[in-house]
Amino acid sequence: LTEVSKKLKSIIRSVPNFPKDGIVFRDITTLLKDKEAFKLAVDTFYQKYKDIKIDKVVSVESRGFIFGSILAYLLGAGFVPIRKPGKLPAEKIRQEYQLEYGTDAMEVHADAIKPGEKVLVHDDLLATGGTVSAACKLIERLGGEVVGICFLIELSFLNGRERLKNYDIFSIIQYNSEQEM
Ligand code: PRP
Ligand code: MG
Repeated sequence: LTEVSKKLKSIIRSVPNFPKDGIVFRDITTLLKDKEAFKLAVDTFYQKYKDIKIDKVVSVESRGFIFGSILAYLLGAGFVPIRKPGKLPAEKIRQEYQLEYGTDAMEVHADAIKPGEKVLVHDDLLATGGTVSAACKLIERLGGEVVGICFLIELSFLNGRERLKNYDIFSIIQYNSEQEM
């Protein structure tokens, strides 16, 4: 995996001072547009979960959808989107979560997951873990069982894993500091 990790990391574009001063944005579009890198990332996720029973892959608007639906297809699972408030039309449940300043919320359809279903959660990036821990709460409120959480990128220095310590977490690429290039 270290080979894969190194290769994919070298293709991610790091953009200093975006969206604000002092933040280095990890831009995955340079990986997505590269057919070999894109396939390598998808295959790496697939290899990790192919032998586990998974009923649903759940991912978070919007960047989580890119790999989430492909994984659902490959794993023979259904795909469930978690969306920002006001986007889903039918009966839904909402979970609020803390941001650096203030709160945000996410929603999922109430009939998206049945009690006892095995769920794989995917998002492109783990930072503080706020987004994905809210996603896990939504899944569990519907009776789903989170059997794994996977990310393309983990910003290890933000300790998002601490907030997700009851779950099995997998990330392909790690950054150990904001400034790492
Ligand atoms: C980014 C990223 C993750 C989340 C991680 O999404 O895609 O979903 O932040 O942060 P956290 O671990 O601190 O919660 P963003 O809110 O920028 O929206 P997007 O996916 O729609 O671009
Ligand atoms: Mg996101």
